[in-house]
Amino acid sequence: MGHHPVEDSNNSNNRPFEEIINARLSRRRMLTGTASAATVSVLGAFGLAACGGSSNSGSSNAPADTGGLTVAPDNLGFRAVPTSLEDRVIVPEGYRADVLYAKGDPLISGLAPFRNDGTDVDYDNRAGDEHDGMHFFGLGSSGQYDASVSDRGILVLNHENLEDNTLHETATAKQDAIDADDLVTLKKIVDREMNGHGVSCVEVRKTNGKWSVVLDSPYNRRVTVFTEMEMKGPVAGAEFARTRLSPDGSKRFGTMNNCANGYTPWGTYLAAEENWYAYFAALDGAEFDALSEKEQAWVARYGVGAAWAYRQWDRVPGDQYARFSIAATGASATEDFRNEANVHGYITEVDPFRPAQKPRVRTAFGRFSHEGAWVAPVKAGQPVVIYSGDDSRREYMYKYVSAAAWDPADANAGLVAGDKYLDEGTLYVAVFNEDGTGSWKALSIDNPELAGTQSYQLDESNSLDFDFQSQAEVLASARLAADVVGATPMDRPEWAAVNPLNGDVYLALTNGNAGNRPADDLDGANPRAVNANGHIIRWKEDNADHAATAFEWDIFLFGSSADAEADYNVSGLTTDNEFSSPDGLFVDPRGVLWIQTDDGSSGIRSTTNNQMLVAIPGAVGDGESVTVTTSDGSEQASIATFVGQSAEAMQLKRFLVGPMGCEITGITMTADARSLFINVQHPGEGGTAAAFNRDVSTWPATSGDATAVGEADNRPRSATIVIYREDGGEIAI
Ligand code: FEO
Ligand code: CA
Ligand code: CA
Ligand code: CA
Repeated sequence: MGHHPVEDSNNSNNRPFEEIINARLSRRRMLTGTASAATVSVLGAFGLAACGGSSNSGSSNAPADTGGLTVAPDNLGFRAVPTSLEDRVIVPEGYRADVLYAKGDPLISGLAPFRNDGTDVDYDNRAGDEHDGMHFFGLGSSGQYDASVSDRGILVLNHENLEDNTLHETATAKQDAIDADDLVTLKKIVDREMNGHGVSCVEVRKTNGKWSVVLDSPYNRRVTVFTEMEMKGPVAGAEFARTRLSPDGSKRFGTMNNCANGYTPWGTYLAAEENWYAYFAALDGAEFDALSEKEQAWVARYGVGAAWAYRQWDRVPGDQYARFSIAATGASATEDFRNEANVHGYITEVDPFRPAQKPRVRTAFGRFSHEGAWVAPVKAGQPVVIYSGDDSRREYMYKYVSAAAWDPADANAGLVAGDKYLDEGTLYVAVFNEDGTGSWKALSIDNPELAGTQSYQLDESNSLDFDFQSQAEVLASARLAADVVGATPMDRPEWAAVNPLNGDVYLALTNGNAGNRPADDLDGANPRAVNANGHIIRWKEDNADHAATAFEWDIFLFGSSADAEADYNVSGLTTDNEFSSPDGLFVDPRGVLWIQTDDGSSGIRSTTNNQMLVAIPGAVGDGESVTVTTSDGSEQASIATFVGQSAEAMQLKRFLVGPMGCEITGITMTADARSLFINVQHPGEGGTAAAFNRDVSTWPATSGDATAVGEADNRPRSATIVIYREDGGEIAI
């Protein structure tokens, strides 16, 4: 669902504009020099992988048998692909792309292949819909996590949402069942939808140079909206977390709208819930009025009951479905589901190596529209630090710092290590200052700023009073706490990524959602009015310590069409690299940066399908001070900010373009950098039942060649694809 109206409940007034103008006018900053390849310290993923190898002194085509990775390459060794409106995947010359795991593909051999007519059931044993965030976990010979294994692994991926018109027999099948009061058919359809969400764990192997799914592997599993999970961390057991199905607040069922992800150095997967609030039936006026002001503030600030993605699951009889209505219908909270929305919006931890263990809901990260959860490289004796953005309009960037210090002996401890590092720690929210510095503010019940009565501006004439009574309340209403401490509203935080070579943190700000950034509401970190094309900001934590509470930032790259005016096309994009709406980000173990796009109708989608680009990213401070002039249509603003080196200097190049109507998202690479897995999400999005999509996509082809156009009448399907260099060498260099 790339075109959903994004939740917009941040009515805080966190940036007095006069102050920002004054700060900007008086600002000066010295730019720091570029870190050279010779001086960066080389860390593998979490310091575990032996990256070996040194800088590949300028060769643009690394030989396939270097024996180690080409760390900090000087050049990208492929020719940029052109923009494309074709209904197939485009990769550079010398590369191939295979379809590995598509919507509806079975995980067990007893199940019929995908039927292409919307009659498949059993999605609890098939690939779900809308593949998104993903990680490849190397699988060692005795079944343990081994990050260095590059030919056998467990691929774990999210299924964010559904393409209704291709999932069911017809696009109107569910509404038809509702209109006919046919509860038997409705239940079948709703079960398919609830099982079509969640997470896939699937064993994959490379044999004779080609990857395939291992049917019937003991690691194959689906986590769905029905899966029982344990609530962990401060919110577990809280009064506001108790429901009819969990009277002591100790469990939750299922996860939904899992957008991006994370992975831990102890071999587990982190699934984020993004637009979870939209799955609940909206409260009517009387039901809302019956809540306390604090409860009203929580519902309103999180947009719970947003109608745009409400799926009517609560129409099916039974508690597993009734929980999607949060109206108070019983005599107490343990007789209904008034608290059900309070247990969603967290990070869920899944252990791919121990399929019998229930996933654990990690509430210490706070509750918001988590895009994902990116663990910074760990160091023995230092806390575990995890970055997570809140992807809605004008929302914030957060990080979590564990109380426990990392012990490398926990590297295979699974959810037990999760209990140690993820249940006790401090949640921080980011403030980006006008002078290029920033700070992290603790969302702790001990923070004096959070004491006493607070107020949420519901609309122009009504405000709601609330307070924070416990750390559990601070975490469950993290957005309200972040408002209070003056966090910086951003242009929709999507993926983050940490450069393992120097610790710089990158954050994609996908766009301002057409008009949500008027010219009188800008700042240095979000400097463009409307900002239809988005930008990527980055920062360096003080002393390269991810637990630091201060940082220095600049804007790495601005999205734009190549022919836009120079003070809008700030990074100097050309036809080889123009893009809009950055979303997925990844810095691979060699320090090569990947960008994936989710460009809706407001961007440059009329000239190209969504795409993936590659760059050699440099470092915070490698560019210059600039002034960006933009207009919201009625008013113009010139904002001073800091931009990194030009697109040309970072060698930004288009590596891949997807089929029609898709988003490119999800990215993970084997440790040898020779297999790259990505997801093609919702090809043909937005169509009708008759012509399955707006652009009549039929991707993927039944041959499994991702670069081929699909056959007539194929229903378009989200799919994981794997990309290889034909000569077997490292990808992109
Ligand atoms: Fe699901 Fe924020 O993208
Ligand atoms: Ca999407
Ligand atoms: Ca995303
Ligand atoms: Ca997006």
